[in-house]
This record gives sequence, C-alpha cells and structure tokens, in this order.
Amino acid sequence: MFSQRRNQEIREYTVKTFVKENDAIKAAKERAEKEHLPHISVSPNVGKLLAFLASLHQPKRILEIGTLAGYSTLWLAEGAPQAEIITIENNPKHAQVARENFSYAKKEKIQLIEEDALITLEKFLKEKHPPFDFIFLDAYKEGYPLYLPFLLQLSRDGTLLITDNLIPREEKINAPDPGNQIAVRTYEYNSLLSSNPHLNTIPIYTLVGDEGRLDALGITVISKS
Ligand code: DHB
Ligand code: MG
Repeated sequence: MFSQRRNQEIREYTVKTFVKENDAIKAAKERAEKEHLPHISVSPNVGKLLAFLASLHQPKRILEIGTLAGYSTLWLAEGAPQAEIITIENNPKHAQVARENFSYAKKEKIQLIEEDALITLEKFLKEKHPPFDFIFLDAYKEGYPLYLPFLLQLSRDGTLLITDNLIPREEKINAPDPGNQIAVRTYEYNSLLSSNPHLNTIPIYTLVGDEGRLDALGITVISKS
C-alpha cells in the first residue's frame, strides 16, 4: 500500500516546502544536467542536512571524497563558509564540471584534487596533513573499506564522518552476490564501521536517484579515546 510513488511525492513535497537551494547550488544542478552527468548527486534534503551538520559542527577543515558536479560541496560551503574544503574527484569530466560550478559560485577557495582518492589519502598521511573535522564520503563504493583506515588516521576526536549510500541497489539486504563488488564492499564497509568501538553511527534513511530508492546515509562520530 505504501508505494515508491508515494515516497517520491513525499520527497517532492517536503523539499518544496522546506529546502531552498541557493542560486549557485541551483546552477550547479543545471550544469550537471546539461553536461549529462549521472543523476547520483545527493537529494536536496541531504544537501541541506550536510549544510546543517556543518553549521552546527563548525569545522575548520572539510574533506569530501567524490565531488561529481560539486552539488554537495556547495551545500557544505553554505553551511561552513569559513571552512577550508578539499574535494577529491577522479573522473576528469566530473572534475571539469565541478570546477566550472565552483567558479560560477565564486568559491575558488574550494580545492579540487583530481586523482584517485587512495593516492591523495596516502599523500595526506605521509605529509602529516592536519586532521579533518568533517568528512563526506560519496565516491566509488568499491573504495569505501580501503578509504576508512586513512580517514580515521586523518581525523581528530569528534570528527564527523558522513557516508552516503550504506545500502546498495540489490534486492537482498546484506547478502551480496560475490560477483557484485559494489554490494560486497559496501556491506564490508558497514561491518567495519559497526564493529569499531571508536565509531558511533546513526543511519538516516534517504530516497536516492530519480526512482526514489530507499537507502541510508551514515552519520558517524569518531572518538579517539
Ligand atoms: C548511486 C547513488 C549514489 O548516491 C551514488 O553515490 C552512487 C550511485 C546509484 O543510485 O546508483
Ligand atoms: Mg551517493
């Protein structure tokens, strides 16, 4: 009786009622559409949640893995205008669109690094990069379990780690087909998160993509004690 269509209508209604995208964020979405980027940016309510959490947490340094067109990055910038934001994107086309969006938004301060995130994270660690206060992970799902140890080492006590897409597309939950690396790696990441006593995660349900598929976003507090 409760259909996916109804879920989508609820999403449309609540976003229209409560979420206002600023001009730069709207323009970023339009450019992503014009350049035929995949429709896998976070939904507007998740964008606003990122801004909300960032404004409450007052991070000095934000790290985002998986920029796409920079839609979520611009929400983070709205929530934490003073923060230094580093965002990593390995796809040259996506990186180019994101750079245009940041330039239009007059957010030249956002630093986009165009390379494989694992390489960047290794470099940060070697160079003893100061810890990030806020991390948003929304990249290739196969990489999630590999990024996690680096993210923990690049954190401080109280760093917030937000993870998009805790639930892969598959019908069966937590029973991935071994041939489906996206699903295997995502559930592996979830076990790493949940079994680590220094990590405390709350899953927030989200509706993703055009079809409004039910998924979850993780909000994790990293503790060092
Ligand atoms: C999809 C959704 C996402 O949020 C993402 O980061 C990657 C893929 C998807 O719907 O396939
Ligand atoms: Mg995502």
